[in-house]
Amino acid sequence: MRLTMKRPQGNRDGSAGVGPGVRTLGARLVAFLVAPLLMGGLMAGCADEYPQSSISPHTDFAEIIHSLYVSIFWWSMLILAVVWLLLAWVIVKYRRKSEDEKPRQIRGHLGLEIGWTIGPALIVIAIAIPTVQAVFATQQPVSEDALEVEVVGHQFWWEFHYPEQGVTTANELWLPVDRPVNLRLESNDVIHSFWVPKLGGKRDVNPVPAVREGQDPKYNWLYFTPQETGVFMGQCAEFCGQSHALMAMRVVVESEEGFQDWVDRWFASEGAALPAGAEPDAETELQMPGEEPDVQEDEELQAVDQDEDPMVTLGRETFLNSTCVACHGVEGTSAQGVIGPNLTLFGARSTLGAGIMENNRENLVRWIIDPQGIKAAVAMPGTEYPGGNWPATGLSDGEVEAVAAYLLSLK
Ligand code: CUA
Repeated sequence: MRLTMKRPQGNRDGSAGVGPGVRTLGARLVAFLVAPLLMGGLMAGCADEYPQSSISPHTDFAEIIHSLYVSIFWWSMLILAVVWLLLAWVIVKYRRKSEDEKPRQIRGHLGLEIGWTIGPALIVIAIAIPTVQAVFATQQPVSEDALEVEVVGHQFWWEFHYPEQGVTTANELWLPVDRPVNLRLESNDVIHSFWVPKLGGKRDVNPVPAVREGQDPKYNWLYFTPQETGVFMGQCAEFCGQSHALMAMRVVVESEEGFQDWVDRWFASEGAALPAGAEPDAETELQMPGEEPDVQEDEELQAVDQDEDPMVTLGRETFLNSTCVACHGVEGTSAQGVIGPNLTLFGARSTLGAGIMENNRENLVRWIIDPQGIKAAVAMPGTEYPGGNWPATGLSDGEVEAVAAYLLSLK
Protein backbone atom coordinates (compact mmCIF):
# COMPACT_ATOMS: atom_id res chain seq x y z
CA MET A 1 0.00 0.00 0.00
CA ARG A 2 1.42 3.34 -0.99
CA LEU A 3 0.46 6.19 1.29
CA THR A 4 0.29 9.62 -0.22
CA MET A 5 1.23 12.44 2.08
CA LYS A 6 0.21 15.21 -0.36
CA ARG A 7 -2.28 17.75 0.82
CA PRO A 8 -5.81 16.91 -0.30
CA GLN A 9 -6.41 19.13 -3.28
CA GLY A 10 -10.02 18.24 -3.95
CA ASN A 11 -11.86 20.91 -2.03
CA ARG A 12 -9.51 23.85 -2.53
CA ASP A 13 -11.44 25.38 -5.40
CA GLY A 14 -14.62 23.45 -4.74
CA SER A 15 -14.47 21.89 -8.20
CA ALA A 16 -12.96 18.46 -7.84
CA GLY A 17 -15.48 17.07 -5.35
CA VAL A 18 -14.63 15.04 -2.27
CA GLY A 19 -13.22 11.91 -3.89
CA PRO A 20 -9.39 12.33 -3.69
CA GLY A 21 -9.64 13.99 -0.30
CA VAL A 22 -11.52 11.05 1.19
CA ARG A 23 -9.11 8.51 -0.35
CA THR A 24 -6.13 10.27 1.24
CA LEU A 25 -8.01 10.59 4.48
CA GLY A 26 -8.88 6.91 4.38
CA ALA A 27 -5.26 5.92 3.80
CA ARG A 28 -4.13 8.11 6.68
CA LEU A 29 -6.71 6.64 8.99
CA VAL A 30 -5.58 3.12 8.14
CA ALA A 31 -1.95 4.08 8.78
CA PHE A 32 -3.01 5.77 12.01
CA LEU A 33 -4.70 2.58 13.20
CA VAL A 34 -2.35 -0.09 11.86
CA ALA A 35 1.13 1.36 12.54
CA PRO A 36 0.96 1.20 16.37
CA LEU A 37 -0.40 -2.34 16.24
CA LEU A 38 2.49 -3.42 14.00
CA MET A 39 4.97 -1.75 16.35
CA GLY A 40 3.37 -3.44 19.34
CA GLY A 41 3.69 -6.81 17.60
CA LEU A 42 7.36 -6.17 16.80
CA MET A 43 8.10 -5.18 20.39
CA ALA A 44 6.40 -8.29 21.76
CA GLY A 45 8.46 -10.46 19.38
CA CYS A 46 11.73 -8.94 20.63
CA ALA A 47 11.07 -9.31 24.36
CA ASP A 48 13.42 -12.22 24.99
CA GLU A 49 16.37 -10.83 23.07
CA TYR A 50 16.98 -8.04 25.57
CA PRO A 51 18.81 -9.11 28.72
CA GLN A 52 16.96 -6.59 30.90
CA SER A 53 13.53 -6.91 29.30
CA SER A 54 10.77 -6.30 31.82
CA ILE A 55 8.22 -8.14 29.67
CA SER A 56 9.91 -11.53 29.88
CA PRO A 57 9.04 -12.96 33.34
CA HIS A 58 10.99 -15.90 34.83
CA THR A 59 9.66 -16.00 38.42
CA ASP A 60 6.22 -16.14 40.08
CA PHE A 61 6.72 -12.54 41.24
CA ALA A 62 7.57 -11.29 37.74
CA GLU A 63 4.64 -13.34 36.40
CA ILE A 64 2.15 -11.52 38.66
CA ILE A 65 3.43 -8.13 37.52
CA HIS A 66 3.55 -9.23 33.90
CA SER A 67 0.00 -10.56 33.79
CA LEU A 68 -1.24 -7.33 35.37
CA TYR A 69 0.68 -5.36 32.77
CA VAL A 70 -0.64 -7.47 29.90
CA SER A 71 -4.26 -7.29 31.00
CA ILE A 72 -4.10 -3.51 31.46
CA PHE A 73 -2.35 -3.22 28.10
CA TRP A 74 -5.16 -5.05 26.27
CA TRP A 75 -7.92 -3.13 28.08
CA SER A 76 -6.12 0.08 27.07
CA MET A 77 -5.96 -1.17 23.47
CA LEU A 78 -9.72 -1.76 23.54
CA ILE A 79 -10.33 1.78 24.83
CA LEU A 80 -7.92 3.13 22.22
CA ALA A 81 -9.77 1.28 19.46
CA VAL A 82 -13.12 2.72 20.62
CA VAL A 83 -11.66 6.24 20.74
CA TRP A 84 -10.07 5.86 17.30
CA LEU A 85 -13.24 4.51 15.73
CA LEU A 86 -15.28 7.37 17.21
CA LEU A 87 -12.66 9.82 16.02
CA ALA A 88 -12.68 8.35 12.52
CA TRP A 89 -16.47 8.42 12.43
CA VAL A 90 -16.54 12.09 13.55
CA ILE A 91 -13.84 13.09 11.05
CA VAL A 92 -15.71 11.53 8.16
CA LYS A 93 -19.26 12.40 9.17
CA TYR A 94 -18.66 15.98 10.26
CA ARG A 95 -16.06 17.04 7.71
CA ARG A 96 -16.74 20.33 5.95
CA LYS A 97 -18.76 19.58 2.85
CA SER A 98 -18.97 23.06 1.33
CA GLU A 99 -17.55 26.56 1.81
CA ASP A 100 -20.56 28.07 3.53
CA GLU A 101 -21.84 25.18 5.62
CA LYS A 102 -21.26 25.54 9.37
CA PRO A 103 -21.85 22.55 11.70
CA ARG A 104 -24.37 22.85 14.50
CA GLN A 105 -22.69 24.46 17.53
CA ILE A 106 -23.13 22.91 20.98
CA ARG A 107 -22.24 24.81 24.18
CA GLY A 108 -22.36 22.80 27.40
CA HIS A 109 -23.79 19.28 27.61
CA LEU A 110 -24.51 17.97 31.09
CA GLY A 111 -24.80 14.33 30.00
CA LEU A 112 -21.43 14.41 28.21
CA GLU A 113 -19.72 16.11 31.16
CA ILE A 114 -21.03 13.53 33.61
CA GLY A 115 -20.06 10.80 31.17
CA TRP A 116 -16.43 11.90 30.76
CA THR A 117 -16.02 12.29 34.51
CA ILE A 118 -17.55 8.97 35.54
CA GLY A 119 -16.07 6.94 32.64
CA PRO A 120 -12.39 7.62 33.46
CA ALA A 121 -13.09 7.25 37.20
CA LEU A 122 -14.47 3.75 36.54
CA ILE A 123 -11.42 2.92 34.42
CA VAL A 124 -9.06 4.04 37.21
CA ILE A 125 -10.97 1.89 39.72
CA ALA A 126 -10.89 -1.07 37.35
CA ILE A 127 -7.10 -0.73 37.09
CA ALA A 128 -6.64 -0.13 40.83
CA ILE A 129 -8.34 -3.35 41.98
CA PRO A 130 -5.97 -5.87 40.32
CA THR A 131 -3.01 -3.55 40.98
CA VAL A 132 -3.62 -3.46 44.73
CA GLN A 133 -4.17 -7.23 44.67
CA ALA A 134 -0.79 -7.66 42.93
CA VAL A 135 0.92 -5.36 45.44
CA PHE A 136 -0.36 -7.47 48.34
CA ALA A 137 0.44 -10.75 46.58
CA THR A 138 4.07 -9.70 46.05
CA GLN A 139 4.51 -8.59 49.67
CA GLN A 140 3.51 -11.98 51.09
CA PRO A 141 6.20 -13.75 53.07
CA VAL A 142 7.13 -16.97 51.35
CA SER A 143 7.32 -20.45 52.74
CA GLU A 144 9.50 -21.65 55.59
CA ASP A 145 11.90 -23.52 53.32
CA ALA A 146 12.81 -20.33 51.47
CA LEU A 147 16.47 -19.54 50.98
CA GLU A 148 17.39 -16.33 52.75
CA VAL A 149 19.89 -13.90 51.27
CA GLU A 150 20.91 -10.60 52.83
CA VAL A 151 21.45 -8.10 50.04
CA VAL A 152 23.57 -5.08 50.95
CA GLY A 153 23.82 -2.16 48.54
CA HIS A 154 27.11 -0.26 48.53
CA GLN A 155 28.34 2.64 46.43
CA PHE A 156 28.68 1.04 43.83
CA TRP A 157 28.44 -2.71 44.18
CA TRP A 158 26.26 -5.47 45.63
CA GLU A 159 27.03 -7.72 48.57
CA PHE A 160 25.16 -11.01 49.02
CA HIS A 161 25.31 -12.86 52.32
CA TYR A 162 23.76 -16.32 52.80
CA PRO A 163 23.30 -16.74 56.57
CA GLU A 164 22.23 -20.39 56.30
CA GLN A 165 25.29 -21.38 54.23
CA GLY A 166 27.70 -18.88 55.78
CA VAL A 167 28.69 -17.67 52.33
CA THR A 168 29.36 -14.06 51.33
CA THR A 169 29.81 -13.00 47.74
CA ALA A 170 29.56 -9.91 45.58
CA ASN A 171 27.86 -8.79 42.40
CA GLU A 172 26.88 -12.32 41.35
CA LEU A 173 23.91 -13.74 43.22
CA TRP A 174 23.65 -17.53 42.93
CA LEU A 175 20.23 -19.09 43.48
CA PRO A 176 18.81 -22.60 43.16
CA VAL A 177 15.93 -23.04 40.70
CA ASP A 178 12.38 -23.73 41.96
CA ARG A 179 13.20 -22.78 45.54
CA PRO A 180 11.60 -19.62 46.94
CA VAL A 181 14.09 -16.97 47.96
CA ASN A 182 13.68 -14.18 50.52
CA LEU A 183 15.95 -11.25 49.81
CA ARG A 184 16.47 -8.98 52.81
CA LEU A 185 17.43 -5.60 51.41
CA GLU A 186 19.67 -3.17 53.23
CA SER A 187 21.97 -0.34 52.22
CA ASN A 188 25.33 0.47 53.69
CA ASP A 189 25.15 4.11 52.58
CA VAL A 190 22.53 5.80 50.37
CA ILE A 191 19.30 4.44 48.86
CA HIS A 192 19.81 1.91 46.04
CA SER A 193 17.20 -0.19 44.26
CA PHE A 194 17.41 -3.90 43.53
CA TRP A 195 16.16 -4.61 40.04
CA VAL A 196 16.56 -7.76 37.98
CA PRO A 197 13.81 -7.16 35.42
CA LYS A 198 13.28 -10.77 34.34
CA LEU A 199 13.03 -11.92 37.96
CA GLY A 200 10.76 -9.11 39.13
CA GLY A 201 11.19 -6.05 41.24
CA LYS A 202 12.25 -3.34 41.55
CA ARG A 203 12.47 -2.62 45.27
CA ASP A 204 14.31 0.08 47.22
CA VAL A 205 17.40 -0.90 49.17
CA ASN A 206 17.31 1.52 52.11
CA PRO A 207 19.74 2.24 54.92
CA VAL A 208 18.22 0.56 57.99
CA PRO A 209 18.19 2.97 60.92
CA ALA A 210 19.27 1.76 64.34
CA VAL A 211 16.32 0.85 66.58
CA ARG A 212 15.80 0.80 70.33
CA GLU A 213 16.14 -2.44 72.18
CA GLY A 214 13.13 -4.66 71.76
CA GLN A 215 12.18 -3.13 68.41
CA ASP A 216 12.67 -4.88 65.08
CA PRO A 217 14.61 -3.09 62.38
CA LYS A 218 12.51 -2.38 59.29
CA TYR A 219 13.85 -4.06 56.19
CA ASN A 220 12.48 -4.15 52.69
CA TRP A 221 12.04 -7.69 51.43
CA LEU A 222 11.71 -9.20 48.00
CA TYR A 223 10.35 -12.70 47.52
CA PHE A 224 10.34 -14.84 44.41
CA THR A 225 10.88 -18.33 43.05
CA PRO A 226 13.15 -18.61 40.01
CA GLN A 227 11.42 -20.86 37.46
CA GLU A 228 14.30 -21.67 35.16
CA THR A 229 18.07 -21.81 35.18
CA GLY A 230 20.12 -19.14 33.46
CA VAL A 231 21.96 -15.90 33.99
CA PHE A 232 19.86 -12.79 34.52
CA MET A 233 21.10 -9.23 34.40
CA GLY A 234 20.20 -6.64 36.99
CA GLN A 235 20.94 -3.04 37.72
CA CYS A 236 20.69 -0.56 40.56
CA ALA A 237 17.56 1.43 39.76
CA GLU A 238 17.86 4.34 42.17
CA PHE A 239 20.29 7.18 41.52
CA CYS A 240 22.95 6.70 44.17
CA GLY A 241 25.92 8.81 43.06
CA GLN A 242 28.47 9.26 40.32
CA SER A 243 28.72 5.62 39.31
CA HIS A 244 25.07 4.65 39.77
CA ALA A 245 24.91 3.57 36.13
CA LEU A 246 27.87 1.23 36.76
CA MET A 247 26.22 -0.67 39.60
CA ALA A 248 25.04 -3.80 37.83
CA MET A 249 24.80 -7.44 38.88
CA ARG A 250 24.22 -10.95 37.57
CA VAL A 251 21.86 -13.51 39.04
CA VAL A 252 22.94 -17.06 38.29
CA VAL A 253 20.04 -19.50 38.68
CA GLU A 254 21.37 -23.04 38.94
CA SER A 255 19.94 -26.49 39.63
CA GLU A 256 19.79 -27.42 43.33
CA GLU A 257 22.95 -29.54 42.86
CA GLY A 258 24.70 -26.77 40.92
CA PHE A 259 23.96 -24.32 43.71
CA GLN A 260 25.21 -26.72 46.40
CA ASP A 261 28.33 -27.37 44.34
CA TRP A 262 28.96 -23.62 44.23
CA VAL A 263 28.60 -23.40 48.03
CA ASP A 264 31.01 -26.34 48.45
CA ARG A 265 33.51 -24.77 46.09
CA TRP A 266 33.23 -21.50 48.03
CA PHE A 267 34.47 -23.25 51.16
CA ALA A 268 37.03 -25.39 49.37
CA SER A 269 38.55 -22.87 46.96
CA GLU A 270 41.49 -21.75 49.07
CA GLY A 271 40.96 -23.95 52.10
CA ALA A 272 42.51 -26.75 50.04
CA ALA A 273 45.76 -24.81 50.02
CA LEU A 274 45.94 -24.92 53.82
CA PRO A 275 47.50 -27.80 55.68
CA ALA A 276 44.89 -30.05 57.26
CA GLY A 277 43.62 -28.58 60.52
CA ALA A 278 45.26 -25.19 60.00
CA GLU A 279 43.02 -22.25 60.75
CA PRO A 280 43.44 -19.11 58.73
CA ASP A 281 44.83 -16.39 60.98
CA ALA A 282 42.22 -13.66 60.97
CA GLU A 283 44.39 -11.29 62.90
CA THR A 284 47.28 -11.08 60.50
CA GLU A 285 48.59 -7.54 60.65
CA LEU A 286 48.21 -5.35 57.62
CA GLN A 287 51.36 -4.61 55.71
CA MET A 288 51.56 -1.05 54.54
CA PRO A 289 53.32 -0.37 51.22
CA GLY A 290 57.04 0.00 51.76
CA GLU A 291 57.13 -2.39 54.70
CA GLU A 292 58.90 -5.69 54.30
CA PRO A 293 56.26 -8.37 53.86
CA ASP A 294 56.51 -11.00 56.53
CA VAL A 295 56.21 -14.03 54.31
CA GLN A 296 58.29 -16.66 56.01
CA GLU A 297 55.78 -17.39 58.71
CA ASP A 298 52.76 -17.54 56.48
CA GLU A 299 51.79 -21.18 56.63
CA GLU A 300 49.35 -20.68 53.75
CA LEU A 301 52.24 -19.87 51.48
CA GLN A 302 54.19 -22.95 52.42
CA ALA A 303 51.19 -25.17 51.83
CA VAL A 304 51.00 -24.36 48.17
CA ASP A 305 50.49 -27.13 45.67
CA GLN A 306 53.79 -28.00 43.98
CA ASP A 307 52.19 -27.90 40.53
CA GLU A 308 50.79 -24.41 41.00
CA ASP A 309 51.66 -21.73 38.47
CA PRO A 310 54.47 -19.70 40.13
CA MET A 311 52.66 -16.54 39.03
CA VAL A 312 49.65 -17.59 41.14
CA THR A 313 51.90 -18.34 44.11
CA LEU A 314 53.56 -14.95 43.82
CA GLY A 315 50.16 -13.29 43.40
CA ARG A 316 48.80 -14.94 46.56
CA GLU A 317 51.86 -13.82 48.51
CA THR A 318 51.57 -10.26 47.17
CA PHE A 319 47.83 -10.08 47.77
CA LEU A 320 47.97 -11.40 51.34
CA ASN A 321 50.76 -8.99 52.24
CA SER A 322 49.30 -5.85 50.70
CA THR A 323 46.57 -3.43 51.76
CA CYS A 324 44.15 -5.42 49.56
CA VAL A 325 43.22 -7.51 52.60
CA ALA A 326 42.11 -4.45 54.57
CA CYS A 327 38.94 -4.46 52.47
CA HIS A 328 38.73 -7.82 50.68
CA GLY A 329 38.19 -11.28 52.05
CA VAL A 330 39.08 -14.67 50.53
CA GLU A 331 37.67 -17.67 52.37
CA GLY A 332 40.34 -19.98 53.75
CA THR A 333 43.07 -17.33 53.85
CA SER A 334 44.14 -14.59 56.22
CA ALA A 335 42.34 -12.06 53.98
CA GLN A 336 39.24 -11.30 56.03
CA GLY A 337 38.36 -7.74 54.98
CA VAL A 338 34.66 -6.95 54.90
CA ILE A 339 34.58 -3.39 53.53
CA GLY A 340 34.95 -4.32 49.88
CA PRO A 341 33.63 -7.21 47.78
CA ASN A 342 34.50 -10.69 49.05
CA LEU A 343 36.74 -12.25 46.40
CA THR A 344 36.24 -15.97 47.13
CA LEU A 345 35.58 -17.74 43.78
CA PHE A 346 36.42 -14.47 42.04
CA GLY A 347 37.78 -16.35 39.02
CA ALA A 348 34.38 -17.99 38.52
CA ARG A 349 32.61 -14.65 38.09
CA SER A 350 31.75 -13.62 34.57
CA THR A 351 32.11 -9.90 35.17
CA LEU A 352 34.23 -7.44 37.06
CA GLY A 353 33.61 -4.10 38.80
CA ALA A 354 29.91 -4.88 39.57
CA GLY A 355 28.85 -6.19 36.20
CA ILE A 356 30.50 -3.52 34.08
CA MET A 357 33.08 -5.51 32.11
CA GLU A 358 34.14 -9.02 31.28
CA ASN A 359 36.23 -10.70 33.96
CA ASN A 360 39.50 -11.42 32.17
CA ARG A 361 43.18 -10.87 32.84
CA GLU A 362 43.49 -7.71 30.77
CA ASN A 363 40.49 -5.97 32.38
CA LEU A 364 41.48 -7.07 35.85
CA VAL A 365 44.99 -5.66 35.45
CA ARG A 366 43.51 -2.35 34.28
CA TRP A 367 41.11 -2.40 37.23
CA ILE A 368 43.81 -3.02 39.87
CA ILE A 369 46.02 -0.26 38.43
CA ASP A 370 43.32 2.37 37.86
CA PRO A 371 39.89 1.52 39.34
CA GLN A 372 38.78 5.14 39.66
CA GLY A 373 39.65 5.79 36.02
CA ILE A 374 37.21 3.03 35.05
CA LYS A 375 34.55 3.76 37.65
CA ALA A 376 34.35 7.26 39.06
CA ALA A 377 34.19 7.65 42.84
CA VAL A 378 34.88 3.98 43.53
CA ALA A 379 36.42 3.52 47.00
CA MET A 380 39.30 1.29 45.87
CA PRO A 381 42.82 2.76 45.76
CA GLY A 382 44.86 2.44 42.58
CA THR A 383 48.51 1.53 42.35
CA GLU A 384 49.41 5.22 42.34
CA TYR A 385 46.56 7.00 44.11
CA PRO A 386 44.66 6.52 47.37
CA GLY A 387 41.04 5.52 47.84
CA GLY A 388 38.61 4.69 50.64
CA ASN A 389 40.96 5.99 53.38
CA TRP A 390 43.73 3.72 52.12
CA PRO A 391 46.94 4.85 50.45
CA ALA A 392 47.94 3.84 46.94
CA THR A 393 48.67 0.11 46.84
CA GLY A 394 52.08 0.80 45.33
CA LEU A 395 52.04 -2.52 43.46
CA SER A 396 54.50 -2.76 40.57
CA ASP A 397 53.29 -3.85 37.13
CA GLY A 398 54.68 -7.33 37.76
CA GLU A 399 52.92 -7.58 41.11
CA VAL A 400 49.64 -6.46 39.55
CA GLU A 401 49.98 -9.22 36.91
CA ALA A 402 50.65 -11.75 39.66
CA VAL A 403 47.71 -10.63 41.82
CA ALA A 404 45.46 -10.82 38.75
CA ALA A 405 46.66 -14.36 38.04
CA TYR A 406 45.98 -15.32 41.65
CA LEU A 407 42.48 -13.82 41.75
CA LEU A 408 41.53 -15.47 38.45
CA SER A 409 42.73 -18.82 39.85
CA LEU A 410 40.08 -18.62 42.60
CA LYS A 411 37.31 -20.78 41.21
CU1 CUA B 1 23.14 2.07 43.60
CU2 CUA B 1 22.16 3.43 41.94
